[in-house]
Amino acid sequence: KCFKKVDSCFQRKFGTNTTATKTDAPNKKYKIDSKDRNKSFYTVQEEKIEQAERSVLISCPAKTNEKKFLNYLSRHGDINKCFFYESYGTYAVVEFSNKESLTSLHEGTAIPSINHEATVPFKSRLLSLRNAGPVDMSNGQSAPQCQPQTTIHINDLIQRLSKEDSIDQQISSLTETYQLTEENVCLRFLVCSLLKDIAAAYFPECTIRPFGSSVNGFGKLGCDLDMFLDLDGISGRNLKRPKAGLSLEYQTKRSASERAGTQSILSVIGECVDQFGPGCVGVQKILQARCPLVRFAHQPSGFQCDLTANNRVAMKSSELLYLYGGLDRRVRCLVFSVRCWARAHSITSSISGAWISNFSLTVMVLFFLQRRTIPILPTLDHLKELAGPLDKSVIEGNDCTFVSDFTKIRLQDNTETLEQLLQEFFEFYGTFAFNCMSINIRKGREQNKPEVSPLHIQNPFEPALNVSKNVNGTQLERFVALCRESAWMLQQREFNVPHRGSGTGNNAPWGLAALLMPSVSQVAGVKSRKKRKREPASERIKGLLESLKNREVKS
Ligand code: GTP
Ligand code: MG
Repeated sequence: KCFKKVDSCFQRKFGTNTTATKTDAPNKKYKIDSKDRNKSFYTVQEEKIEQAERSVLISCPAKTNEKKFLNYLSRHGDINKCFFYESYGTYAVVEFSNKESLTSLHEGTAIPSINHEATVPFKSRLLSLRNAGPVDMSNGQSAPQCQPQTTIHINDLIQRLSKEDSIDQQISSLTETYQLTEENVCLRFLVCSLLKDIAAAYFPECTIRPFGSSVNGFGKLGCDLDMFLDLDGISGRNLKRPKAGLSLEYQTKRSASERAGTQSILSVIGECVDQFGPGCVGVQKILQARCPLVRFAHQPSGFQCDLTANNRVAMKSSELLYLYGGLDRRVRCLVFSVRCWARAHSITSSISGAWISNFSLTVMVLFFLQRRTIPILPTLDHLKELAGPLDKSVIEGNDCTFVSDFTKIRLQDNTETLEQLLQEFFEFYGTFAFNCMSINIRKGREQNKPEVSPLHIQNPFEPALNVSKNVNGTQLERFVALCRESAWMLQQREFNVPHRGSGTGNNAPWGLAALLMPSVSQVAGVKSRKKRKREPASERIKGLLESLKNREVKS
C-alpha cells in the first residue's frame, strides 16, 4: 500500500523489493549490513521507509521485562525487530511484520485523561507503556539492555585509538566508533515516519525522507536529522491529460513563487508540529533562510531535526555522497577521520558560521581521492556517462544525472593505505593553491576560481554556486596551517609509532590520536582553555613531544 505513495519515478526504477527479514532475537546488536552498502540509495530508502511505517516508538518504565513486553505486544502480530535505548527515559522501537498489527495496537490504546489539564486527542505511533499492576514488569531483572545512540567523548576516543597498533587500525577504529548503527538509522526513519503522520493531515500522500548525513554514509552518532517533505509522489501530479475529450483537474490555490509555496507549507506543518506533535519541542520556523526550514528537537529520540520541503538537490547530493562512500571503504574512513580532526580543532562546527562545513570537508576529501595518481574515485562527469535512462534527473534546470547502479562502476587499482592517504591529504591541502583554484568534483581537477571567495568548492549540481561561500580568510588559513602541522607530525617517528605505557590505559596519544589532541595543555593537563586556543602550532607540537618523552620516561 505504501508504495502507491512513493515517487512514481522511484517505483519505476526499483520496483517493490521490500521483503522484510525474519524475526531477530531482541537485544541483538544490528550492525550496518555491508551488503546494504551496495544497494542503490533509493532501494535502501524505500526499504527503510516501509519498515518505519510498520514500527512504533514506546516509552517504557526503566525496569521493563523485555520478554513480558514482547509477549504483550505480539498479541497484535509478529514482531520483526525490537531494541531499547535511553533518551530522557527508556524507549523501545518495535517493528511489526505487518502494518495491520498497528491497527490492532491502536484499537487497544487509550487516550490519557489528566486531571486539571486538557489533552488534545492526537493519535500517533509514539506511545507509553503503563502498568496498573499486578504484572511484575521487573521480574527481578534490571533494565533492558540499551543500544547506544550517542558516541563517546573525544578524550575517550583518543584513549581508544592510542591502544591500536597502526594508524590504519586507528582510522578504522574511529570510523567504527563514530558511524551510525543500524538501530540509529531505523530510529531516524521512524522519526521521519512519525512526522509524516502529522504532515499527512494536510497532504495524505506525502513522504518525509531523511537526507544529509543520516543517509549519505558519513553520519556520526548524534548528528542532526535533516528531513525533506516530498510531495512529488502525490498521485495525479504526473498524470498526462488526454489530448482530446473531457478530463478533470483539481482546483488549487496558487502561490507567488515556488519559494512562497514552500514557506506556506512549512509554516502550517511547523505550527501543527508545535501544537500537537508529541515529543517535539523548541519548534522554530526559519522561513526566510535560503532554504526555508522548521527546526525542533524530538525529545524521545534525542534528535535535533531540520524539516525542509522542495529540497531535491540536497537529496541528490546525499545520493551522490552515498554512492562515493560505498565505492571503496577507504572513502568513509578518510571522511570520518578528517571530519573528526576538523571538529577537534574547531575548524568546523555544527553551528553555521564562517568555518568550513562538514559537507564542504566531505567534498574536499572526495576531490583529493579523485586526484590521486591512480584515482580512487571517478569524476562526477564519468558517473554521468555511466547513467542509464532511468537515472536521468534534471532539477530546476540543472542536470543532476549520474549512475545509481554500483555494479556499472569500474574502479582503478589503487592500493594506497589509509595512513598514506591521511598523510597525503594533509600535504595536498597544506599546499593547495586556494588563492586561484577552485575544487571541482565534476571534472575531478582544479579549475580557475570564478570569484574571489577565499575557498571555492563548486556545487556539484548547481555549478554557479560555491558550497563554501561562507568561509572567510581566517578560517581557511587555520585549516591550511593545521594541515601543514598534521602532515609534519605524521612524518615524525615520535608521532607515527605506538607509545606503549607500562599498564593498560596508559598509552600516550600517537598517530591519529595525537592529531586529535586539541592542544598541548590537554596532554600536560595545565593552562586554561582560553590560553590553549591561542597557542601557536609550534608550541603545540613542542608540548606534544614533551608529553611523549615524559610518558616514555615514566613507563
Ligand atoms: P552533519 O554536519 O553531520 O549534519 O552533515 P550533513 O551532511 O548532514 O550536513 P548538513 O546538515 O549541514 O546539511 C545536510 C545536507 O544538505 C548535506 O548533506 C548536503 O546534501 C546539503 N548541504 C549542506 N550544505 C550545503 C551547501 O552549502 N551546498 C549544497 N549544495 N548542499 C548543502
Ligand atoms: Mg545534517
